[in-house]
Amino acid sequence: MSLAQHTATLHTGAKMPLLGLGTWKSKADEIRDAIVSALQTGYRHLDCAAVYGNECHVGEALKEALALTGIKRSEVFITSKLWDTMHDPDDVLPALKKSLADLQLDYLDLYLIHNPYAFAKKDGQMMPKNPDGTIIYSDVHYCDTWKAMEGLVDQSLCKAIGLSNFNHKQVLDVIDKARIKPAVLQVECNPFFRQEKLIDFCHSHGIVLTAYSPLCCGDRAWRYACDPDLFGDPKLMDIAKKHNKSVAQIALRFQVQRGVVTIPKSVTPKWIEENAQIFDFSLSEDDIRQISSLKTHRMGIPPAKGPDNKPLLDDHGHPIPRDKDHQYYPFNEPF
Ligand SMILES: NC(=O)c1ccc[n+]([C@@H]2O[C@H](COP(=O)([O-])OP(=O)(O)OC[C@H]3O[C@@H](n4cnc5c(N)ncnc54)[C@H](OP(=O)(O)O)[C@@H]3O)[C@@H](O)[C@H]2O)c1
Repeated sequence: MSLAQHTATLHTGAKMPLLGLGTWKSKADEIRDAIVSALQTGYRHLDCAAVYGNECHVGEALKEALALTGIKRSEVFITSKLWDTMHDPDDVLPALKKSLADLQLDYLDLYLIHNPYAFAKKDGQMMPKNPDGTIIYSDVHYCDTWKAMEGLVDQSLCKAIGLSNFNHKQVLDVIDKARIKPAVLQVECNPFFRQEKLIDFCHSHGIVLTAYSPLCCGDRAWRYACDPDLFGDPKLMDIAKKHNKSVAQIALRFQVQRGVVTIPKSVTPKWIEENAQIFDFSLSEDDIRQISSLKTHRMGIPPAKGPDNKPLLDDHGHPIPRDKDHQYYPFNEPF
């Protein structure tokens, strides 16, 4: 069975490859080789977003990689995301068109609302800020944004629509008012933040869950001494040794084995290949028990920053989450 044949089925009937390549933080001069390597290795799924600031480079690289490999556009599942400054219903179509133009595509397989909370529009800035460094919010409700997302499907500009970083109550809110149900929920998920409840919730509503930062996003800008080390974790290292696999492969297998799509980012060809070798072994019930016993720790929430652009810490020295004061901030709910 080829890599692309390991899929999750969306409620639209479309097949979404369980493994995709993430592109956040991939630099212009790294993207071409990463995408060529990925397609040659058998990946048929790319995860993109307007806010990553590299969709035009992804588009160039994809065009070149398709020409080089003879793979057709229709064989690759491509996701992008609507950024927080574009939630006003009138901005949704122009935002999608910009991503399509940058990616040199005429449709997306999946378009996600990147976050439930909206930011104000200010001079085209992705992170519009007040003088004190806080972000200027907008109160557009995500259900109004969702209605405009449905219009994109009607126009055949994307085949499916979904959500990212929504909690289960917000997903239910969208489901209740939707004409077209969300196909996918993309959230942080890895061995330290396993999301069992959200996965059960999504699967019971016919929604596919995608795990982002499946390798704990080691190249993120914010890191703290209390953050666990995925690659140095003794339990994960033991499981990896037993299966003659790497810790990365164990972390990715953990997702796909439970029907969760995952999108590790790499620009290193040998890791892109390594991350694909996860369909030739299975984790045992005891392996899963070991992974489930790891201390829960979330690492994907960016910190709020002060006017000096340094992370703000609370009285205990813990980072204050960015956007926690937004009325639609999702992460105060347990799942
Ligand atoms: N919806 C959202 O809000 C959201 C948020 C975060 C991420 N995402 C999506 O999810 C994707 C993946 O998440 P992420 O970028 O946060 O982090 P990640 O995939 O958890 O980790 C990426 C890091 O792991 C390294 N790596 C990859 N494979 C490895 C291996 N086999 N062994 C050792 N190191 C390895 C990469 O190195 P190199 O790149 O140097 O090779 C990179 O430094 C993103 O790129 C993005 O597409 C979405």
